[in-house]
Amino acid sequence: MSIKGFNSKAVHAGDLYIPEIGNVTTPIFEDSTYRYPNNSESTIIDNTSKSTFLYSRWGNPTVQSFENKYKSLEKTDHAVAFSSGMGAITATVLSIMKSGDKMLAINVLYGQTYYFFARTLKSYGITVDMVSVDDMNKLNISKENYKMIYIESIPNPLMDVLDIKKIGEYCRKKGIILVVDATFASPYNQTPVDFGADIIIHSGTKYIGGHSDILIGVVGCNSDDYYNGIVGMRKTLGATPDAFQAYLAYRGLKTLGLRMERHNINGMKIAEFLSSSDKIMEVFYPGLRQGKYYEIAKTNLRGFGGMISFKLKGGIAESHKFIGSLEIPMPAVSLGGVESLITIPAETTHSEMSEEERNKSGITDNLIRLSVGIEDSEDLIEDLQQALAKI
Ligand SMILES: Cc1ncc(COP(=O)(O)O)c(C=O)c1O
Repeated sequence: MSIKGFNSKAVHAGDLYIPEIGNVTTPIFEDSTYRYPNNSESTIIDNTSKSTFLYSRWGNPTVQSFENKYKSLEKTDHAVAFSSGMGAITATVLSIMKSGDKMLAINVLYGQTYYFFARTLKSYGITVDMVSVDDMNKLNISKENYKMIYIESIPNPLMDVLDIKKIGEYCRKKGIILVVDATFASPYNQTPVDFGADIIIHSGTKYIGGHSDILIGVVGCNSDDYYNGIVGMRKTLGATPDAFQAYLAYRGLKTLGLRMERHNINGMKIAEFLSSSDKIMEVFYPGLRQGKYYEIAKTNLRGFGGMISFKLKGGIAESHKFIGSLEIPMPAVSLGGVESLITIPAETTHSEMSEEERNKSGITDNLIRLSVGIEDSEDLIEDLQQALAKI
């Protein structure tokens, strides 16, 4: 079989061909239900029930085609798609953690994940201890009987990098389930299963979809038990994606490798440009040699991606002036699309933290987060240059 490389798999793996039709791409099956019984000899099996398709909250052929393509790239045996990244996170954790169980997480997490861990799980009798990224990387953690360790491989907004290799070894030794949200890396830059992660989660809304036009989530794992539990929880919570949403994610995956190549190149060029500007105090990007996490990034990532944050010299007024002067990056939250987006985390993604908490975590008013798109880097740099000149 010559379908081995990332891009060959991205284009061809998991496609749903129907010989009677001769289709070239997976069709969109907007069916809520299917004929039952279906005794056709050539029937396609629903992975979730190991039987014929029955009802789309359980499994849908278009959703399954996306899952099959994704799992070939993530290098996992199983994949489960969700109606959003949060659907994927909540269903995964709830399928494993029970009242009285304890888990450990990093203390910088996507805001809604933080809320789910700190508030929702707590109210269900599940203990979530949190440590800093540096303590997690150094395995400077208590010897509690943790059932799960949950990390984001590149946490927002300071682009730290988690040493999944080291944490994965620790988890294997201790029999702890390692769950990795690898949204910022995408399966092109990182496949955490290589480092011993048990479950990988993506907000497919970001790089996987790649066009800022869908919400979707996806989970990959090798264990049949975790897979069955996660599928069961999806069915119960009703967080299955719609076929059209899954089709756009399936289509997004076909160009993930090409897009990530450009995100990686643009990210590096722009991080280097920003580092050379006298209007900027500090740049946070995993690929910068002078960065705190560069050595970890080199062993844990194949590419450094398009997410950069940086601190302007100045405060909120300068941040507004700078963002308002840009012509290409649009002021918006979210990330990973073909178009560059820019935001002030203190005002958007991290606005629910108190000013004191933000300052302690380094999320100051002059911190800007840039999701570098696939535009021409020369245009982006010229635009950033003219906006920096205005402050
Ligand atoms: C790292 C990370 N994980 C999960 C999510 C949640 O994904 P969604 O918005 O698709 O529910 C986000 C959203 O921004 C995110 O940045």
